[in-house]
Amino acid sequence: MTTTDLPLLVLGRGTDPASERGVDCPGSLPAASDPDLVARARAAKEALGSRLFVLGHHYQRDEVIQFADVTGDSFKLARDAAARPDAEYIVFCGVHFMAESADILTGPDQKVILPDLAAGCSMADMARIAQVEDAWDAMVEAGIADSVVPVTYMNSSADIKAFCGRNGGAVCTSSNAQVALEWAFAQKPDAKVLFLPDQHLGRNTAVLQMGYSLDDCVVWDPHKQNGGLTAEELRDAKMILWRGHCSVHGRFSAEVVDELRAKIPDVQVLVHPECKHEVVTKADLVGSTEFIIKTIEAAPAGSSWAIGTELNLVQRLADAHPDKNIVFLDRTVCYCSTMNRIDLPHLVWALENLVAGTVVNQIQVDPETEKWALVALQRMLDLPARTAAKD
Ligand code: 13P
Ligand code: SF4
Repeated sequence: MTTTDLPLLVLGRGTDPASERGVDCPGSLPAASDPDLVARARAAKEALGSRLFVLGHHYQRDEVIQFADVTGDSFKLARDAAARPDAEYIVFCGVHFMAESADILTGPDQKVILPDLAAGCSMADMARIAQVEDAWDAMVEAGIADSVVPVTYMNSSADIKAFCGRNGGAVCTSSNAQVALEWAFAQKPDAKVLFLPDQHLGRNTAVLQMGYSLDDCVVWDPHKQNGGLTAEELRDAKMILWRGHCSVHGRFSAEVVDELRAKIPDVQVLVHPECKHEVVTKADLVGSTEFIIKTIEAAPAGSSWAIGTELNLVQRLADAHPDKNIVFLDRTVCYCSTMNRIDLPHLVWALENLVAGTVVNQIQVDPETEKWALVALQRMLDLPARTAAKD
């Protein structure tokens, strides 16, 4: 099933707007109240043995993450998927763009499965290929396309990654955005970067890690004529940031950072680079989910941390480190609703179907998209290793 051209957050199948994409599970989805779910997942995993490899993103629920063979941020999981050519089934407990990337990076006989097809990403849905092609046409018209290198965050659909591959660009993740941008700026004299789809990761990396100014950045709004920019603004910019953001990380505010600093003596603020610029500016440390975990693991007992990232991960860190004072950087509960779509009933349903020889919810990127998306992903995987962090 190819689903790259569907916005995943919006529910309904187009032809049948009353249906909810992702709950269409052939056979029957086990009830969430079934007391045997853990035992059933365990038995299915055991039956599949080394034919199965389960990947779990750090934002997944505890009930799911316990069955992951490996956990990681999106960069690590992409590498992990590529490193298991022997596994027949890759069950991706994460979101759609991650499963697409896993399909691109794995062999033709390996099958990547997303237990719930409604596990999309609102940020990835903010850049659609037709919009990006329109933006590119406008850049051609403004006479700048020859100097623009497109870089897309992993959190984008496969066709956007393919667009970047086809146009001399690359993929990046929150672990390597700086290295990817350094690579991009080195590709051409007077290079500019079109950064998709997360304006915050693009701005935070360019300004806080690479020394560009806020004036070097402009925001392309796909809902406005010519992106809301003049040809002169486009020509003067170094970073053309797509107007996209993460609805989860967009909630963290500079005000709450101040509030927690006043309330908790010596608190250190640790945030993901998808947070807004004013939040990241006020933080002590910024980095990917993998970086956040390593930082807390290395922190001394008794230290205090306010963490700005998805709540499943923050709660897990608080549970795993009772000797440290860990608080969430928001006043209210803030889970990623699409990451949370993958729950134990969907995992059990997917695994038991595999045991029965039925592949459900397979994510398959079409060959032409795959070819170019792989070019962009490979450029990222070939970058020198360096972890993104502000300290
Ligand atoms: P990382 O896994 O790259 O830290 O990204 C977080 C995220 O939002 C994934 O959707
Ligand atoms: Fe997308 Fe944000 Fe959820 Fe990550 S946390 S999957 S970027 S909506």
